[in-house]
Amino acid sequence: MPKSITGFSKLSKEEKINWVAKTYFSKPSEAISLLKKYSNSDSKLQQLHDEFIENTIANFYLPLGIAPNFLINERNYTLPMVIEESSVVAAASNAAKFWATRGGFKTTVLNTEKIGQVHFIYKGDFSKLEKFFIAIQSKFLAATQNITSNMQKRGGGILNITLKNKTESLPNYFQLHATFETKDSMGANFINSCLEQFAKTLKEEALVFDLFTEEEKNIDVVMSILSNYVPNCLVRASVSCPIEDLCEKQIPNPVAFAERFVQAVQIAEVEPFRAVTHNKGIMNGIDAVVLATGNDFRAVEAGIHAYAARNGQYASLTQATIENGIFNFWIEIPLALGTVGGLTSLHPLVTFCLEMLEKPDAKELMQIVAVAGLAQNFAALRSLTTTGIQDGHMKMHLNNILNQFEATAEERHLIHNHFHENTVSHAAVVDFIKNLRKKN
Ligand code: MEV
Repeated sequence: MPKSITGFSKLSKEEKINWVAKTYFSKPSEAISLLKKYSNSDSKLQQLHDEFIENTIANFYLPLGIAPNFLINERNYTLPMVIEESSVVAAASNAAKFWATRGGFKTTVLNTEKIGQVHFIYKGDFSKLEKFFIAIQSKFLAATQNITSNMQKRGGGILNITLKNKTESLPNYFQLHATFETKDSMGANFINSCLEQFAKTLKEEALVFDLFTEEEKNIDVVMSILSNYVPNCLVRASVSCPIEDLCEKQIPNPVAFAERFVQAVQIAEVEPFRAVTHNKGIMNGIDAVVLATGNDFRAVEAGIHAYAARNGQYASLTQATIENGIFNFWIEIPLALGTVGGLTSLHPLVTFCLEMLEKPDAKELMQIVAVAGLAQNFAALRSLTTTGIQDGHMKMHLNNILNQFEATAEERHLIHNHFHENTVSHAAVVDFIKNLRKKN
């Protein structure tokens, strides 16, 4: 078993690389040379990436693809997508093209409120805590003035602070539940700084509140942190068209297609096993754009999945109906995104992607990301309810298999020709390559 190491963070990057290579690899020089291949030759650029996180030893590439022809509220966009899975970008592009000739995507931001909480333990009379909270409310705002003044200039700030009695769930557990408007920043640092100041004010003011007994004065703050569940930071994206307009090569019978499509969405509404996969496909689009624009995809994932379970059972994020001959398909999701702060101006490719999107503000980016999710779901359900998913997916995956076998240009040509007509499966491709190589 490899030995543990103390003081690792103090080592230089070179020393860290050497330690990893010698500790875990039978051929350390090969491991080191691989890491070097994934380091940028521009030392300034490399240093920038090294400093995003800690103990950096290399860069880990993901492809950046683009999906053009997204018509959103009458405006054309090319979406940047960072994702490792083949066929996602192709699916997004196909769905974009499909809807561009059928009215495009329509989007609205329903709300932009963020949430943060101070979780604390108070052992005493709740009515006194309520009086205390009312008495010190203005102090929360005064004490955070230095944190909020810039945000206020941009039109944001603290919206509201309430006291919540959570003792039915956990003995002596209370919260300060605060809401915020953070404009074009995701707002995590702003919210957490405000919350930590609220906690300080809460503790300090309790010590001098006359009505409290000695025990009641001792408010015990457990933690102060934003919530990544933002059900009031909501965006909606939709498409709709007369059923007959759905007609195309893959959809010869639009009525049957629309009915089957609605059924597929309904299944994801009532069946959690299907809902998880249905929503995973939506997240293929959402995460890809969230990553490309330097936003926190873990926060987005956590918040969206909580929203999918808001009614007590995990369910579809999209809905579909047929009403008076019109096919309607839409998504409503919570999204806390930023277009300033964080990585947005630090990571050169994030800046590039935001520029390609023509520098959207946070509200516009919410709409673009929601569209990416809806488009992805449309493409997945269209395949699933018509040809099946494997046909298109495996054709896209073919290149991965060819790379795995280091196929030559000539082999690739022969294989592409053969599988243009035949069903692609991993085994079939491997057999074909082996036969080709046997012949030579
Ligand atoms: C694969 O990454 C995503 C799908 O499974 C989504 C779905 O089933 O709806 C195709």
